[in-house]
Amino acid sequence: CGIVGYIGFRRAAPVVVNGLKKLEYRGYDSFGIAVNNPKMQVFKKEGRISKNEKAASRLPGHIAIGHTRWATHGIPNDINAHPHQDCTKKIAVVHNGIIENYAELKRQLIGRGHTFISETDTEVIAHLIEEAYKGDLQAAVYQAIQYLQGSYALLVTVEGEDKIVAARDSSPLVLGVGDGEFFAASDVTPLLEFTERVIYLEDGDLATLTPEKSEIFHNGVPVERSIELIDWSIENVKKGGFEHYMLKEIYEQPQVFYNTMMGITPDQIPPELKQSDEVTVVACGSSYHTGLIFKYLLESICRIPVRAELGSEFKYFTPPIKGLVMVITQSGETADTLAALKKAKAYNCPTLAITNVLGSTVTRMADHTLFMRAGPEISVAATKSFIAQLAVLMQIANLLHDGDLTGVLTHANSVIEEALLTDTKKAVEICSPAEHIFYVGRGLFYPIALEGALKMKEISYIHAEGYAAGELKHGPFALLSPQTPVVALCSPGNTYPVMVSNIKEMKARGAPIIAIGVNGDLELSEIVDVFIPIPESHELVQVLATSVVLQMLAYHTAVALNRDIDKPRNLAKSVTVE
Ligand code: G6P
Repeated sequence: CGIVGYIGFRRAAPVVVNGLKKLEYRGYDSFGIAVNNPKMQVFKKEGRISKNEKAASRLPGHIAIGHTRWATHGIPNDINAHPHQDCTKKIAVVHNGIIENYAELKRQLIGRGHTFISETDTEVIAHLIEEAYKGDLQAAVYQAIQYLQGSYALLVTVEGEDKIVAARDSSPLVLGVGDGEFFAASDVTPLLEFTERVIYLEDGDLATLTPEKSEIFHNGVPVERSIELIDWSIENVKKGGFEHYMLKEIYEQPQVFYNTMMGITPDQIPPELKQSDEVTVVACGSSYHTGLIFKYLLESICRIPVRAELGSEFKYFTPPIKGLVMVITQSGETADTLAALKKAKAYNCPTLAITNVLGSTVTRMADHTLFMRAGPEISVAATKSFIAQLAVLMQIANLLHDGDLTGVLTHANSVIEEALLTDTKKAVEICSPAEHIFYVGRGLFYPIALEGALKMKEISYIHAEGYAAGELKHGPFALLSPQTPVVALCSPGNTYPVMVSNIKEMKARGAPIIAIGVNGDLELSEIVDVFIPIPESHELVQVLATSVVLQMLAYHTAVALNRDIDKPRNLAKSVTVE
């Protein structure tokens, strides 16, 4: 979920509604807004913001809070949408996170005479504040949060007080500082249009915002938090002439790879990484796939054993770990990854985070941070952040190995650029009518196959599976038919001959084969149905080029199927709940 608040001289509703649209990547099944003018008016609706944007923006007043939802407790409908209110309807609350003890709190509140209308965990917060409210919102919110277990970023406003109270624990919240106005949001993107000055709140912080000032308290004690300058610009969050953010972000990749790679210098590599006999990488989704690539890189190039784990598994089934624990997370906010990081810290392991977002929670938890320079990624499907993570990871392996891949990596951007010219039309014709697609590769190309399949399923809704090419005959062969295309990643190297044999086996079972190989590979192009050539280059660069081609294959297939590219159904970009 995403939240936005505004207090100042502008009309608040359009600022908040526009801000929420920028946070829709965090969830978009319903949205809502409350304006305090000075009567409380709430507008909330199931569905995308665009459907009801005008009605919501029309609300008058200079104080507003809003929410865009990714349902956890209660189905997406008008009633479960935020803001939530107390019995008097004078208080309005928006919340990102999960209140773990809400059922018990709700039972107690009902026992004390409160009436609930939604199925959400958030509604208990409004009622707790109502009980504590004696004319001082800040004091009431402070009292109410003492009862909460779980995670929250909250914005609260009440009739009769010209202020917004914000509080956070384990969910992100950033304040935007203007002249005569203040903003609050789940991340900086809604603020970029208005200010470059931000304050990242810490866990346990509570802030009171008026047009003139913010007062911040940590566990009840006043604190100063520094104002930081954001270097992302508003241009970064516009589509810039592209039909979808995803396509724009795919096209940004040559630059993103170069900037990120050049941004990682030898002095930034944590000493604990150099000294580790073993490294554990933890991540989720596409970031987990780059973790798997890192395993291949570090083990084959630097001979350091690497374990790659899923964030959601690591917290509950922690293997014996020693050495550095590295988490990879574009947003820096994925709950499962943060939980894993907490666990690693409890084991006293040194920790390193790789992230794209300055000031994100992960940067405050890990001992060391290396930044990707991807800029804001708006489309839900990860593309440029995937390439940026690979830039960091390849550069780490390079620097740990005396920099002998520097030449290869500094020229990778031109090959990525060439890959962007690839024509995927014939492959799209085969993929778009399919119900199932397999992606196969070996070695470094196995995680790329996993990522290619993930891209395809998340945006086209076609069921796609990534497999280690050798594993297909241990079961999935039973599914091969002329209706089940296989995308085979087939770059030169020691696995090439066996990949060609695998392709022949799959063809013999009737599966149409789309192969990605290097320019001029006549042998391959003759045996497959569609051959997609990429420039011949170093294996690592082929990994990058192949990833880009698979992103475009997924993109164009989803376009052919008329899917909602940037906001695929049921997904969120930043999953801040476990
Ligand atoms: C969500 C996104 C994925 C992303 C994953 C991990 O599921 O839709 O694209 O890979 O979270 O996100 P992170 O921010 O931790 O890299």
